[in-house]
Formats: sequence, structure tokens, C-alpha cells
Amino acid sequence: MKYAVPSPEDHDRRIAEMFDRVAPRYDALNRVLSLGRDAGWRRRTAAVARMGPREIALDVGVGTGDLAFGLLDASDPSVRVVGVDLSPLMIDAVRRRAAAHLDPRLAPLLASAVASANGNATADASSAAKPGSK
Ligand SMILES: C[S@@+](CC[C@H](N)C(=O)[O-])C[C@H]1O[C@@H](n2cnc3c(N)ncnc32)[C@H](O)[C@@H]1O
Repeated sequence: MKYAVPSPEDHDRRIAEMFDRVAPRYDALNRVLSLGRDAGWRRRTAAVARMGPREIALDVGVGTGDLAFGLLDASDPSVRVVGVDLSPLMIDAVRRRAAAHLDPRLAPLLASAVASANGNATADASSAAKPGSK
């Protein structure tokens, strides 16, 4: 049996569609599937990655922003995070959350990880978290 390798555009579209479907219940799903442990994983990750004055982090696959906000909470108040995600509904969710917290330190960006890796911009740290991975 032959498998067709999707083009990069097709791949990104499928991922975006899949995460758009789960976005409205993504946080609740994480709690259930991790048996309530995902918040602790992120807290530990943020504590280890804690960043210093004026540093910038790139959070690839920002989702609803749990790790990004955790990193901001654990870091110097001048730290900023650029959160990149392919899913428009995830980006909407993280924008609403940043607005609700009146927190301008998180800049959500609808883009693919590959696009974010091109160009001249630099970051002091980057993350790509997936609850369930270690
Ligand atoms: C596991 S979830 C988000 C995890 C999130 N950082 C957290 O703290 O819960 C993975 C996210 O990565 C995004 N994603 C997957 N592949 C991507 C890619 N190639 N570029 C950008 N975002 C991607 C998905 O849309 C999804 O929102």
C-alpha cells in the first residue's frame, strides 16, 4: 500500500483544522487526559526555564497559552513571549486570555513553526510543549 506524503501546506492545514476542532475544549481535555497533572508539568517547565530581564521567548504551538503564561508568571516582569500557532481558534483563545488579563507581554501570532524559523528574528529561549510528552 502506498502512502502519499502531504505537501507542507496540506500538512499545516490539516493540523490547523484538527486543533481548531478541539480548541473550545482543549484545556478541559488536557486536565482529563493527564489526570490533572498537566498544570504541574507546565509549572515545573516554567520554573526551570525562568527568564531574566528583557529576555524574549518563542513558544511554538502556544495553544491556549498555558505554558506561555506560566513562563511569564515565573520570569522577570520585563520578559515577553511570542506565541506561534497554526490554529486560528487557538490564537483567538490566547488573544482573549491575554486581553482578559490585560497582559501585553504575550504576543500571539498565527504562523507555522517552519515560517517562524525563517528570517532574522532571534529569541533567548524557545519551547514546544505537548502535554503527555516528557
Ligand atoms: C499540544 S498543543 C499546545 C500546547 C501548549 N503549549 C500548552 O501549554 O498546552 C499543540 C499546539 O501546537 C500547534 N501546532 C502543531 N503543529 C504546529 C506547527 N507546525 N506550527 C505551529 N503550531 C503548531 C497546534 O495547533 C496546537 O495548538
